[in-house]
Amino acid sequence: MANQEKSWEKRLSGSVDELAVDFVESLSYDQRLYKYDIAGSIAHAEMLAEVKIITKAEAAEIKKGLLEIGDEIAAGKFTFDKTQEDIHMAIESALIGKIGDAGKKLHTGRSRNDQVATDIRLWMRDEIEIMLTRMTQLQIAFVRLAEKYTDDIMPSYTHLQRAQPVTVASYLLSFVEMLARDWSRMKDCRDRLNVCPLGSGAVGGSTLPLDREMTAKNLGFKDITYNSIDAVSDRDFCAEFIFCCSLIAAHLSRLAEDWIIYTSAEFSFIRTDDAYCTSSSMMPQKRNPDMLELIRGKTGSVYGALVAMLTILKAQPSTYNRDLQEDKIHVFNAADTTDACLQMTAAIVSHTTFNTKRIANGLDEGFLDATALAEYLVRKGVPFRQAHGIVGSLVALCEKENKKKLAELSTEQFKAACDKIDDDVFQMLDPAGVCKSYQSKGAAGPKDAEAQIHYWKNKLREQ
Ligand code: ARG
Repeated sequence: MANQEKSWEKRLSGSVDELAVDFVESLSYDQRLYKYDIAGSIAHAEMLAEVKIITKAEAAEIKKGLLEIGDEIAAGKFTFDKTQEDIHMAIESALIGKIGDAGKKLHTGRSRNDQVATDIRLWMRDEIEIMLTRMTQLQIAFVRLAEKYTDDIMPSYTHLQRAQPVTVASYLLSFVEMLARDWSRMKDCRDRLNVCPLGSGAVGGSTLPLDREMTAKNLGFKDITYNSIDAVSDRDFCAEFIFCCSLIAAHLSRLAEDWIIYTSAEFSFIRTDDAYCTSSSMMPQKRNPDMLELIRGKTGSVYGALVAMLTILKAQPSTYNRDLQEDKIHVFNAADTTDACLQMTAAIVSHTTFNTKRIANGLDEGFLDATALAEYLVRKGVPFRQAHGIVGSLVALCEKENKKKLAELSTEQFKAACDKIDDDVFQMLDPAGVCKSYQSKGAAGPKDAEAQIHYWKNKLREQ
């Protein structure tokens, strides 16, 4: 135990246990908030001067000192002392060291509780801007790849069993849709968090005539928070942000899973660039899709952050508790991991080719045209349920007779199954033909793929 006095802890004896110093500090990870802490402090000081709690000269001194500290931190010349606990105390005590008495007035009408709540919101606003751009970049990468494959057909799978034929472009564009939802969800999150808690103080506000609207406006917030008790402990936006990250991670993980399967020798649907593969320390032939596997794996860490965040919020008594300090660990982890995965995915998508020949050669397998044949019967007046049964029996007949595809059946066999079937049936029995015949909006044929590409190119340019 040592004796070390903290200026803000006069009521304590000053005894120090190193274990407790390490346990309580957040400086090691909240120092990345420094720019936002400084911006918040400058806005606060200017407001204090405006309402005449401090002088304009003092506010100017505070601003100058804080900007210098910001430069020192940016240049790596600032000594972070973990006994200061967090970035807020580290900056404030450096300011007092630098400018003396004026520095001691900065914390007037403020608590670290409203300060940290403001800092995270400011940081998250910027972080979300970055993530929105990353999502757009990934969408652009998908659209560019899709453009190359509007006429190439691949099997789609449900239950990982061959289902209906689709264009490669339509498959790729499905991820653009997922990312569009992620994008707007993240944007909503940004809109909702963009309110300023500064001036809520420790919990009950302040007896001083703070102009909260002014601080909020100067920091670019769209509004202030309206209940100080709620404002100091509201971390809903942190949970919401991590949830947004979690769904992005889920979407990227599903893509990764597809492409890990597609790169296997059994599928060989795609080739990703060597830069995104690793080899084996023992098996010289290996070309493993490790980046994709890590994108899938890192999803676990993002989900972990969400569960951690929600659990931190659960059953805390009302208002600020130190539990909340842990929020940043999970928010930063989710943001960094998701950001890295978005960038890596965009790089992989931009350097992947589809083995269209190999895919085309395998299209005869799996009776991809079966549904279209049932719909052909519907057009001939057969009720769909009955048509479904007829085609099901024809597929079973193919399997019994070792025929790989429906087109190998004879006209007589078709007629025996249903007398409404004519010779024109054979036109329907080809995956590429089926894709071209898709009529419903949003279907996975070349026409719709082109329309979707057109739509996204315009939309993404504006985004
Ligand atoms: N480092 C703390 C956090 O991240 C700042 C707030 C501390 N407030 C307090 N009353 N001890 O939550």
